[in-house]
Amino acid sequence: MTVRDLAWGDFPALLENYLAVYDEVRTNPDVGIGLFPEPPKISAEAEWFARLYGRVQDGTSIAVVAEEGGRAVGMCGVDRKGEHREVRHIGVLGILVARDWRGRGIGRRLLEAAIERCRGRFERIELSVFASNEGARRLYRSVGFVAWGLEPGGVLRDGRHTDLEYMILSLAPTSPPYYDRTGGPIELAPAPHDSIPCPETE
Ligand SMILES: CC(C)(COP(=O)(O)OP(=O)(O)OC[C@H]1O[C@@H](n2cnc3c(N)ncnc32)[C@H](O)[C@@H]1OP(=O)(O)O)[C@@H](O)C(=O)NCCC(=O)NCCS
Repeated sequence: MTVRDLAWGDFPALLENYLAVYDEVRTNPDVGIGLFPEPPKISAEAEWFARLYGRVQDGTSIAVVAEEGGRAVGMCGVDRKGEHREVRHIGVLGILVARDWRGRGIGRRLLEAAIERCRGRFERIELSVFASNEGARRLYRSVGFVAWGLEPGGVLRDGRHTDLEYMILSLAPTSPPYYDRTGGPIELAPAPHDSIPCPETE
């Protein structure tokens, strides 16, 4: 298994991995991937992928892929939280490993590779996770994420509410801490590392 940056040719496998979640959710309601009311059309997913690929190319996002036998079996992406200058230091993380490939250390390797690529680009990585998704929460904690909040009933899936846990990983400030649209460094006075309230919940 290799972990590498996203490639243009990954689209068909990543699409398949994502669409499979629409089937999986029938038996695994804790799968923590947001779903549209109906599985999206390929054209909509192709647009999403092209945007993602573009953002990776211009440095706005990072995306790493786990490849096994020439096929993408998992992806972890960190996307800039927004374009307002107040939030450009924050990356938002998402991860999906294809069901048949889980529990073999792929998720951990993807996370570690994604976090490494975020250093010097984002000051902080955020994510939200279904509180019921014990495995994912444990994995995030083990790579340094801390939970800072719980949104009661933040998820409503098939008539059942689930709490949403918010987690943060603060990356040590580096110089320069992140880059502008053109890849040029933006000089910022690094925020004190402990300025963000990140109480451990456990
Ligand atoms: C969450 C996810 C990315 C983890 O990937 P993975 O390849 O299965 O995880 P790994 O095999 O690297 O496991 C890493 C650790 O997490 C634990 N873990 C992960 N998922 C688990 C689960 N469902 N139940 C119990 N433990 C789990 C493992 O015990 C392992 O611990 P260890 O390294 O100490 O042995 C993957 O299960 C997945 O894609 N799930 C569906 C999508 C999803 O829920 N994404 C999270 C969105 S917030």
